[in-house]
Amino acid sequence: MHAGHTVRVAMTHSATRLISPDTFAALTGNPVVVDVFDEPEPGQIAHIRLAQEADLILIAPATAHTLARLALGLADDMLTTIALATHAPILIAPAMNPAMWTHPATQAHVQTLQARGVEFIDPTYGIMACGDEGWGKIADTTVIVQAVQQCLQRTQDLRGVRMLITAGPTYEPIDPVRFVGNRSSGKMGYAVAEAARAHGAEVTLITGPTALTPPAGVKVVRVQTAQQMLEAVQEALDACDVFIATAAVADYRPERPLSSKRKRNSQHWTLRMVANPDILGTVAQRKGNRIVVGFAAETDKALQHAQEKLQRKNLDLIAVNDVLEPGSGFEVDTNRLTLIYADGRIEPLPLMSKRECGERLIQAVVSLLHSRQTRREA
Ligand code: CTP
Repeated sequence: MHAGHTVRVAMTHSATRLISPDTFAALTGNPVVVDVFDEPEPGQIAHIRLAQEADLILIAPATAHTLARLALGLADDMLTTIALATHAPILIAPAMNPAMWTHPATQAHVQTLQARGVEFIDPTYGIMACGDEGWGKIADTTVIVQAVQQCLQRTQDLRGVRMLITAGPTYEPIDPVRFVGNRSSGKMGYAVAEAARAHGAEVTLITGPTALTPPAGVKVVRVQTAQQMLEAVQEALDACDVFIATAAVADYRPERPLSSKRKRNSQHWTLRMVANPDILGTVAQRKGNRIVVGFAAETDKALQHAQEKLQRKNLDLIAVNDVLEPGSGFEVDTNRLTLIYADGRIEPLPLMSKRECGERLIQAVVSLLHSRQTRREA
């Protein structure tokens, strides 16, 4: 029944009115927790320990009330406290009256949780305990078990793989208060880092200035300029198996940044710029067995330019987007990527959230690693 997993059960007070905690304790061979102060293992703070040790948290069946509490980040019992304290993936199988499931409040909570990366195993159509018929019946046990297995499998995909990711813009100083920068928010790179982490990779994120909170469990190196980004990448490169360049590195920097603030004392100001190092190109030149992935933000003939870039920079994969297309490019939460592989395959993806784009890109990296391993074993 456990399929080789250790199962720990946390119940809400309402759940204990339907099933006794003793039943789950007997079935799992482990103590069951309900109250936030329950400490079945003396000296160990149960909610933190359970939150940290879990590979996955399944909330099934989840009521409308529990969904609302999770969406709000309430921590008023053991279950919600564990959910708030964990970095593990969370899977939710809702079960409730159809009117409650389709209520805009519940659906808004579902969207909030999905945006945070929580996955749902949707309820099915059927007759409820109350006699109503509609969507709200908990998914079949086999469907739930399959979702759990797929999620656990995903968290293992990249175990032991060391991934180096650049993200965000670079700021190139003009004087102590001014810089040359660009409109990159860093969202795409942070989403790639989060997806890589969710697949079990060891992730180092080298990031230019952004307003974003880095994903949990990722090593972060903060830089300002292209030169600093290159140095940070070179330092981390030996200990990396996959390099993904999502950063919008400034192609040029002011040749001689001023040491004091320039005064407004003339009608014109000419800045002389020099080319920055090409970080992706530098890495790809000495890539060895590494998988090297680049991004291309294009405004015309996107596929053709990206294919040229893939070959010129010796990449294994390039993700291209047309930044002039609505919903694509800088500062928005969505993107429409086309993945181009070194073997010529082209995989257009639909317009989707940057989080989903990150997931699809990491799935592509997983497939590249698998086919490389298969070739090596053959
Ligand atoms: N890149 C980089 N270092 C740079 C410039 C770009 O690592 N100095 C990386 C980006 O992170 C991205 C890829 O190179 O993964 C594509 O960048 P892009 O600016 O589109 O390509 P360029 O090589 O600069 O070509 P062009 O400006 O002609 O489009």
